[in-house]
Parts: sequence; C-alpha cells; structure tokens
Amino acid sequence: QTFRQRKAEARNVALVFKETGVDAVIFWGSQSGRAEAFARRLAESLEARFGLRSLAADLNDYDHANLTQLESSHLCGFVLSTHGDGDPPDNSDGFWRAIHAFSKRGAQLSNLRYMLFGLGNSKYRQFNRVAETVDDILERLGGTRIGEFGRGDDANGETEDNFLAWRTATEDLLKAELGLVEQDSIYNPAFNIQEVLLADPNGVFRGEPHQALLNQATASSKIADPKIPRALPVVHARPLWESDERLCLHVELDLGADRLVKYKTGDHLAVWPSNPVREVEQLLSLLGLQEKRETIISIGSVNTPEGGRESAFSPTTIEALFSHYLEICGLLSREAVLALASFAPSEASKTRVLQMSDNAQTFKKEVVGSHLTLPSLMRAVGGLLVWRVPLSFFLEKLKPLQPRYYSISSSAVVQPQRVSITVVVDKPPNPTSEDGAIAAVGGWGLATSYLHAVERSCNSVPSDRYHSPFALGAPRALLVDHKVFGAVRQSPFKLPVRASTPIIMVGSGTGVAPFRAFVQERARRKAMGHEVGSTFLFMGFRSPASDLLYEDEWSEHQRIIGQDLLKIWTAYSREIGKRKVYVQDRLLENAAEIMRLFEEGSGCRMYICGSADMARDVVDTLAVMRAKAAGQQHVNAWIKQLRQSKQLLEDVWN
Ligand code: 2AM
Repeated sequence: QTFRQRKAEARNVALVFKETGVDAVIFWGSQSGRAEAFARRLAESLEARFGLRSLAADLNDYDHANLTQLESSHLCGFVLSTHGDGDPPDNSDGFWRAIHAFSKRGAQLSNLRYMLFGLGNSKYRQFNRVAETVDDILERLGGTRIGEFGRGDDANGETEDNFLAWRTATEDLLKAELGLVEQDSIYNPAFNIQEVLLADPNGVFRGEPHQALLNQATASSKIADPKIPRALPVVHARPLWESDERLCLHVELDLGADRLVKYKTGDHLAVWPSNPVREVEQLLSLLGLQEKRETIISIGSVNTPEGGRESAFSPTTIEALFSHYLEICGLLSREAVLALASFAPSEASKTRVLQMSDNAQTFKKEVVGSHLTLPSLMRAVGGLLVWRVPLSFFLEKLKPLQPRYYSISSSAVVQPQRVSITVVVDKPPNPTSEDGAIAAVGGWGLATSYLHAVERSCNSVPSDRYHSPFALGAPRALLVDHKVFGAVRQSPFKLPVRASTPIIMVGSGTGVAPFRAFVQERARRKAMGHEVGSTFLFMGFRSPASDLLYEDEWSEHQRIIGQDLLKIWTAYSREIGKRKVYVQDRLLENAAEIMRLFEEGSGCRMYICGSADMARDVVDTLAVMRAKAAGQQHVNAWIKQLRQSKQLLEDVWN
C-alpha cells in the first residue's frame, strides 16, 4: 500500500471502525481548539470509564460521504462550535456540505448512533445553531441520538459545567443501553513523549514563532502567510488612560519594510503571548524538572488511526513546552483537577485536591474564584513537594496557547507598515499566600498583562508596583528585543470602497478602535481630494474623565473632513451626578437623521464594535427606529437584508 492509499482509507470512517477496531469516534468541529479539547476528553473518558476504544478526530480529516456505510455498533460523537453569525467552524466545511447533500437526496443514516454537544453563547442570536442544524438533519435522515443534545453556553462561562453534566448523563445512558461495565481507572497517556538525544538544534521548536518556520516562510514565498506569527518590533507603546482597576494601552508594531505582513483597515491582529516566567519556573520546580528544562523531547499522539502523529511543535524542549505552547495559566477544568489528584505528592494533598474539585460549586469557589492556575494550585496544596506528573498529562489537560485577537486601530492607507492596537488591561488586586508568594495570576488576562509588560519595558518603567503576573520576569525575547509575536487576520469589517458612501459607526470602550482607523482613513481621503460622505460616530464610555479614547485626534479629523460630515456623539454611562447614557440612547435622539441616510438608497452602512451585549442592544434599537419610520411590518426582514448586503457589520466580543 502506498502512503497515499493508506491516507485515503484513513479518511473513510467506516473503514477506520473496521480496521482499527475502535468502538467510538468523536469528531470535533473547532475554530479555537475548544471543541477539540472537549472531544478528546469525551473519548478519553469513554475509554477510561468503560474501556471503549475511542478516538478523537478532526472533522476535516474524513470524507463524510462514508457515514452511510456505518454499522449500528459504531458510535459517533460530534462536538461542534458555532461562530459569528451562526457559522460552522473552518474545519467543518466538508462535513457541513456532506450532510446538506445527504439531506437533499434523502440519504439514509439509519445506522448512525451519535452523541452531540454544541459550543455556543446565548448572548448571540444564533446560539448553538451549527449543532442544532446538524442534529435536525441527522435525526431526519434516520440517525439516533444517544441522550440529550448538550448545549454549552459560554455566556456565563458555564460551558465546562454544561459539558460535565451532559457527558455524565450521556455515559450513564450508554452504560445502561449497552450493558457496559465500569472499570478501575488507570492512566493511559495519550501522547508518546520521548527524549531526543540527537537533534538538529535548528529544528527544535523553542517558542513561537519558531525561527525555522520563519526562515522557511520567508525563503519559500514572497506571499505572506498570515497564519505564521512573526516577531514584530514595537515602534512605541503608551498608556492612553489609567484608573485604579484598569488601564488602556496604545501599542504600535512595525510590520517590516519587506511587506510580508500586510493588513487592511478593519482587520484584526493576532497576538501570541508567552507564559509568565514566574509561573513556568514554579511549574518546573514543582515537577522536579528544573535541571531538565533544556531536554529535547519529541511528542507524538498515541490515539490516531495512523498510529501516531507528531505534534505541531515537536521536537521541542520542556521549558518551551511550558513557556510557549501550553496555556498553563488558563482557567482549569474541574476534570483536569480531579485527574491531577492521582499524581498528588502526599495523601494530604490528594485529599485536598479531591475536595476542591468534588462538585461544581466548591470548584467554582475555591479554584475559579481564587484564580488558581495549575502551578499555583499545586503549590497551594502540596507546598514545595515534587509531583511526578507525566508530561503527557499536561498536553491532554491544558489547552494549546492560542493567539488573542485585537481590532486594529490604525488605517492601512495612512500607515501601511505600522499597525496599532488599543488594549484594556484589567488590574485586579492579587491574593497572596501566607508566605508572601503570589498565590495566583489573580484574574489578569494573559495577553493583556503580557502587552502591559511590553509597554513597561519599552518605556523603561519598572512594573513592580503592579501585581501583574509578568512583574517578576517577562519572557526573554520580549525584554531583549521589544518584539511581539503577531499575525494579521482578515476581517469582513471593511469601509465601503467609495469614500462618498455614508457610514454610521457605533462603538463602546475599545470598540472604538477600528473607528479610529476608519476616521483616519476618511480624513486622508478627504485630504487627497476625494469626496467624503456623511461619517457619523457614536462612542460610549464610562466618563470623559476616565476612559474617553483618542480625544485629541477627533477634532483634528473634524477640521479636515468638515463638521457637517464627520459628526460625533458621545454617551457616558458613569459620569458623576448625571444619568446613565448609552450609545443607543444617542442613536434614538438622532433617529430621523440616521433613518434618512438609510432611506437615501446610497448604500449607507452601519458598523457596530464592542461587547456582544452592546451590539445586540444597538441592533434592537435600530429595529425600533425602523419600525417608527416605516411601520412594524418587515422590520426583521429589513435587518436581515442589511446584514446580507453587508450594510450592517459587527465586530464583537464577550
Ligand atoms: P457601563 O458603565 O454600564 O458598564 C464601555 O464599556 C461602555 O459601554 C461603558 O460605558 C458601558 O457602560 C457601556 N455598555 C455596557 N453595556 C452596554 C450595552 N448593553 N449597551 C450599550 N452600552 C453598554
């Protein structure tokens, strides 16, 4: 058999069941890696609890036309996330098309027995739409769902609890239905990790962006691969405002004169943070691995039909694994903490770990509420005792370190080689343990505190008065070179081609970031002699004294574009002695003028940027304004049409 044939067969899920003898295949449809993690956890749990041979699989790796060939003993699972406007994740295109094609031709999936868990956020209109659609189609074609369709809801950060409850219920049903017997759990590593004695030092991954990857990309193509992070030098960074609890940073990065990284106004910048040195050192010492930090390891997964696949960052070093590839400071899952108990260094620490993770409430209070990271939890329960935890455990239980995305706040027309982002950093007070060591990361965001450390370092200001996790040591690369690892991600949030098209921008807080870029660009177009249309900006902040952004720039742009064309309204929600005003209140006050722009037929566009809550309320307000102007009928159809024709664009986050 040639490799190609083997590969083609591996793509047939029915054959995989037959040839490998697996009992269950759990597919993931994932954008951010979260659904993948849940799919792996379901597969591991089926294996650990019942000895069912289970495999977690990327939807993209299979040809779903073969789903009709399954046998009734084959178990499938789907963990699917929903994005943006109810869109399926990137790796689910083939699956999505295949089931819609089945649906069209009325194919029979009567042998398909499946478990289904969706990841979504009820703050969005299309809550869990992808999983819902899949469930509808599979059931209609004769598939049988095992248990309930699980709905993960991230609106209040409850996905983890939703998943655990769903998994237990589904597994209990499976147990009863198939007569499964629970087995004593033994730890089976999912990754095969080996020390590498002879490695080409240039081929070892030592942190993103790996130099070899970078060289390869530069040498092999003149086209920028936006997925490859590059070390972008910081041109300058400065605080825009600071209060007791938060501060806001403006960070400008150099994209390089070679123009390998290009951006368009309205795009996003992905930033790859590294873990704080303090946390990495603590973990290494708790694992007794300080002396072995430079050890080169190869990482292959055990559980794939091909019999093992190299991890994306293999070979690497133990230190790089914890510094750059795994989210060691992220939110811990209750399951990961429960599993950690079996590696506890003493009976007392084991009891303590089990007690902390005994139920969802205790876990929420003691672990989530105290912002315990993995190293700080281990330290808190076991002191300086050394834990013998296999490295595979961390790859299984911790998420890969993901980039964070920021709306770019500069115009690509005005400054094509330099990109700026506008970032709010939360500064929660930090709990300290009895011996004075910082007990937890304390709710500081990883990437925002990383950028804060960059800013401090660039401006040579010591950051020790902050309890930031980076205060006691920032990653080396950052301190030496003042570089941030970043890449551009394209976004549909774009200005109309013609500067004469009217636009209405609505943003609150750092949601104003892309509008700074939009207005910059329109001012430049005006200065170049182009005709500029009505440019309305509605901005919402807490108060003019606390968090108003780019105040000095707006009037200059107004001078260039003209006060009659660039109109700016501000809404303040926490101004002392005044009533709370939101951007949607300002929209209502100007309803007639806004509706006139839409009715002119000039293709007027509305842009909304900020929190998902705000965006939903603004769209509701737009519906109210429309109803008032044109009657209640067809309001929803009108909004839908605006979305379809890209006249209504949103760039939102939670
Ligand atoms: P707040 O003081 O009530 O939090 C930036 O965060 C600004 O957006 C703040 O002024 C904040 O008001 C406001 N904001 C919060 N929720 C909102 C919503 N649903 N609609 C509009 N603005 C909102």
